[in-house]
Amino acid sequence: MKIQPSSDRIIIFDTTLRDGEQCPGATLNVDEKLIVARQLARLGVDVMEAGFAFASQGDFEAVHRIAETVGTEDGPVICSLARAVRSDIETAARALEPAVHKRIHTFLATSDIHLQYKLRKTRQEVLDIVPEMVAYAKSFVEDVEFSPEDAGRSDPEFLYQVLELAIAAGATTVNIPDTVGYTTPAEFGALIRGIKENVPNIDQAIISVHGHNDLGLAVANFLEAVKNGARQLECTINGIGERAGNAALEELVMGLHVRRQYYNPFLGRPADSETPLTQIKTQEIYKTSRLVSNLTGMLVQPNKAIVGANAFAHESGIHQDGILKNKLTYEIMDAQSIGLNNNLIVLGKHSGRHAFAHRLQELGFELSDSDINKAFIKFKDLADKKKEITDWDLESIANNEIHQA
Ligand code: KIV
Ligand code: ZN
Repeated sequence: MKIQPSSDRIIIFDTTLRDGEQCPGATLNVDEKLIVARQLARLGVDVMEAGFAFASQGDFEAVHRIAETVGTEDGPVICSLARAVRSDIETAARALEPAVHKRIHTFLATSDIHLQYKLRKTRQEVLDIVPEMVAYAKSFVEDVEFSPEDAGRSDPEFLYQVLELAIAAGATTVNIPDTVGYTTPAEFGALIRGIKENVPNIDQAIISVHGHNDLGLAVANFLEAVKNGARQLECTINGIGERAGNAALEELVMGLHVRRQYYNPFLGRPADSETPLTQIKTQEIYKTSRLVSNLTGMLVQPNKAIVGANAFAHESGIHQDGILKNKLTYEIMDAQSIGLNNNLIVLGKHSGRHAFAHRLQELGFELSDSDINKAFIKFKDLADKKKEITDWDLESIANNEIHQA
């Protein structure tokens, strides 16, 4: 699906398979990445950063296979990360080859601390490299994204110069990363406003934001960025990613959805417009969260917003009483809107294979018939010993099958 620069909706760029996978212990193999990629497509992400093709043979293969299978005419834009060097860009282009809609995302740091200690480059060198490498990426694909890494700690005047050159060289999206999660919402919003006001050709590109959660502020920063002109949000499922993680997709999407009357005017819409701000199918959120947690082994904290086990649980008597009288007393969104079925069929020893397979599918597992048969035998075995089988039991049975397959 082609993305237009003048978008009056928010583009969701998912980087679970690139930045998300870049966290200790979350490594996925190619088959697991394909399972996640298919689910991300069902979720409705606009852009999927499938990996960093130059980083390893496995990453190359994952980007290539995702491009082949998920990068269809109606599918999302498939993207690969590439440093601003020719070999990375060429490799990204080769890996993306089969995708109908493809993007190369190239980056180079702009903060003085990165220039001095990591890159050992001058500002002038950055000003020379950026347009050359953006133009090089453009020689392979129409859709080029450029990120000035550590933009959150870069000199804004220098940042404006770099962005102007990147856009003039053909970047269709300029992404502003708060690489170390240092900025606060007011600062980040002001940075985006400054870019909008001071980069002369900014209207030719989409402004994107990318942020880490070192101070727990990534989502708040992004929402402030939207108010100031950002139209693409880079995020991961369950907020997984380097160190404290990335901005969480489910929190951003539901924040924009639940508070749409507040955000609509910032996108030039009437406050009461019911047109969704993103094209995410929110009913797929819970399933996607469980799938990513299961495959990466990254547990979701119980009190995590939107997808934590307690997010829709009410413990205290006063709250339970209120909820029974009217859900709106203590719930700002419906559990069903993220695909959590309130009327879950409770599985036990009398449940049949069909209900079992259906529930696994709801939990995001795609098992072959023979794996379902094997898992079903284990389920019956457990159901003989335990009165009620929880989703956690089912996930552990299904995970076993996936890892033995
Ligand atoms: O955090 C970061 O700066 C990144 C860039 C490569 C966009 O992940
Ligand atoms: Zn990042």
